Amino acid sequence: MNEILILETQRKLEKLNHPTPLAIAKEIVTFSKGNKTQIKKIIKRLSHDEPWEYIRGYTYFNNNKIFVNKSVLIPRVETEDIVNIAKNHIKNDYQIFDIGTGSGCIAIALSKIFKNNIFAIDIDKKALNVAKKNIEINNCKNIKLINANLLNFDFDNKIPTIIVANLPYLSTRDIEKLQHSVKDYEPISALESGEKGYELYVKLLEQIKSKNVNIKYGVFEIDPNISKYFEGKNFDIHKDCFGRKRFAIIPPTLLK
Ligand SMILES: C[S@@+](CC[C@H](N)C(=O)[O-])C[C@H]1O[C@@H](n2cnc3c(N)ncnc32)[C@H](O)[C@@H]1O
Repeated sequence: MNEILILETQRKLEKLNHPTPLAIAKEIVTFSKGNKTQIKKIIKRLSHDEPWEYIRGYTYFNNNKIFVNKSVLIPRVETEDIVNIAKNHIKNDYQIFDIGTGSGCIAIALSKIFKNNIFAIDIDKKALNVAKKNIEINNCKNIKLINANLLNFDFDNKIPTIIVANLPYLSTRDIEKLQHSVKDYEPISALESGEKGYELYVKLLEQIKSKNVNIKYGVFEIDPNISKYFEGKNFDIHKDCFGRKRFAIIPPTLLK
């Protein structure tokens, strides 16, 4: 019975040009049974470009279950690399700042590896509510949630600090070109930075300086379109799993 349902669902997804029809069909059939939601209704929502992760209410990031709703960006597979890049630079006495935490996915992934104090910061209270739930279900005891605009909160600037940030990095023009599944459902406040795309990172760098952060390492997720700006400022650029220039590493000259 399940096989027939999966096949029928797969066919419907193929008609919608879904990129991974079989995998999602299996997930839909399991989800609809557990939640008594009709497959027809799910397909209808998908046909309106609603992301499957929002319909199901969760996704996975670094194998950790992460609840999502329309207040937070759906964690992307390429963002998992930020954890891999940062983890090689974390020492026992460092505090970790995850700036623009959203669902809390990066902070949670780091908390599963390190006992260090982790500060998960977001300007949006609704996003922090989602992060709170995720921190609880993942049983992360070393994450403190902070509602702040970037580094505008009280912290000890003498403690060696590592910064990971996946802040909004799309320009206003990029937003117009986004596919409907993103533009119509994901929070624009999690995507748009300003006219250029790198404005929030410029502000963050100014704050790192003005607040005299004892910064030992920093990695920012960026859009490949703005990589030139960072290259011009001597940031080292790392590519993501799709071979796109995705991560900018703070140059040694800006570290303490
Ligand atoms: C691209 S999302 C990243 C979410 C999550 N870290 C991830 O990787 O999936 C950016 C997040 O930054 C937050 N944000 C935007 N402006 C901010 C600011 N000035 N200070 C702190 N957080 C901000 C947004 O609310 C959003 O949750």
